[in-house]
Amino acid sequence: MTIKTISELKSADVLISAFIKTDELEEQLSSKGFEWAVDSFAAEKGESLVFLKESRQLKQVLLGLGKNAKNADVLFVFRQFFAAQKTKLKGKIVLDLRGLEGYAEFVANGTLLASYNIGLLKTREKEEESVFNKGSELFIWVDEDKEKLAKLAVKKGLETAETQMNVMALADAPSSHKSPDFVAKYIKKSGKKNGFEVQVYDEKACAEMGFHALLAVGRGSVDRPPRMVVMEYKGKKAKKKVGLVGKGVTFDTGGISLKPGSGMEDMKHDMGGSVAVIGAMELAAKLKLDVHLVGIVALTENCIDGLAIKPGDVIQSYSGKTIEVINTDAEGRLILSDAIHYMAKEFEPEVMIDLATLTGSCIRTLGHKAAGLMTNNDVLALSLEKAGMETGEKLWRLPLWDDYRAELDSDVADIKNLGSAYAGATTAGKFLEFFTDGHANWAHLDIAGTAFMKTAFAKQTSATAYGVRLLTQFVENYIEE
Ligand code: BES
Ligand code: MN
Ligand code: ZN
Repeated sequence: MTIKTISELKSADVLISAFIKTDELEEQLSSKGFEWAVDSFAAEKGESLVFLKESRQLKQVLLGLGKNAKNADVLFVFRQFFAAQKTKLKGKIVLDLRGLEGYAEFVANGTLLASYNIGLLKTREKEEESVFNKGSELFIWVDEDKEKLAKLAVKKGLETAETQMNVMALADAPSSHKSPDFVAKYIKKSGKKNGFEVQVYDEKACAEMGFHALLAVGRGSVDRPPRMVVMEYKGKKAKKKVGLVGKGVTFDTGGISLKPGSGMEDMKHDMGGSVAVIGAMELAAKLKLDVHLVGIVALTENCIDGLAIKPGDVIQSYSGKTIEVINTDAEGRLILSDAIHYMAKEFEPEVMIDLATLTGSCIRTLGHKAAGLMTNNDVLALSLEKAGMETGEKLWRLPLWDDYRAELDSDVADIKNLGSAYAGATTAGKFLEFFTDGHANWAHLDIAGTAFMKTAFAKQTSATAYGVRLLTQFVENYIEE
């Protein structure tokens, strides 16, 4: 779908005017001819007032953005409005953003996200008629001198939403419909389409490469073996190299340390880190960012089989270090140990960021409002936090002090994969740090609480594409530094 920009209103079937809740609301309503609405519309976040004008020829909508609306608020309001109204609006739809042009990207992003269809596996007689089908057209109305910038912003917002929906579809797909190989094939296709290199290591290649920890976790799924996928994008004027690593567990049963049954269906989402990385690669290539971006995702299931790893087993890893597996449900850190070490050794990026739906502990600490940020680099922490505030994909720092390291000492191997019952997000971070090869500019993002959750857009838990916007913003800021 496209959204065009206009600087003059010629005709419309639906006219949607957005307002921020400020002290000047009354004047702003008046200036657009809505003085009569002063008592019935307060521009609260998400508030909408729909009415018909001119003998039902024109449907008009006043849409509230709330007080101090941030980019993420605007995105949310438009997504929510269009999700609720998409079957009720038709024809030529104009969004009046005059005076609010700075939000154009997020308006476009949110509007298109409303077309996301989580029910792909439902049997339907025919496609639902909506504002996103052929019969309708969307326009954003801006002041003339802002049109050029708004046009670019709208394009970026739409491209972002497309990528977010692609990776949401991956994360929301049930395990029955996505093996590690299926995800690898999606990445191959995306690389071809958007312009980045993709190298897929199948189970044989993984063995040759020495990705032993990934293979160990994958041993519980004999007929759906793991994949390590390396993506590389190099912008024309790229000066800096950024490495992104993602956890891609397409289903986490816990393995022999089996999870309880209740809520286990959510573990189809245990690939949130990998889809953030895939999305960031895809979007960087689409936006032609001047950066050298390397993405590595470790893809596997964590299942049960006679061959599956058992508690107490000692496994090899790509780094050469041995790992005692105390709990097979702490599988994310195992597969990441290979991917992170490979990234650090082979690609030596200036900045290395890994993302993983790694611990329940992180959810208990931060809920679903922010991801956990662990790094010993204060400068990197600040830039990541800044990108988080700019995009609304927030981060909150958790400790990574050496005080916690001794919890991972093993009698029989170089390290064990489980700490005490406390500070679980941090001990997981300490485990990963052991495999960074002393990288001085590395950060770990625990996105267990933010990658999927209950949202306003679905009845059950669903994917958020958390990280796509965050990583893109971080990279954009970083190449400007
Ligand atoms: N994928 C889970 C973490 C998770 C749980 C993410 C719930 C999102 C929602 C991870 O592999 C896991 O099982 N972690 C264990 C680690 C424990 C065994 C040290 C956990 O957090 O319970
Ligand atoms: Mn697990
Ligand atoms: Zn997991």
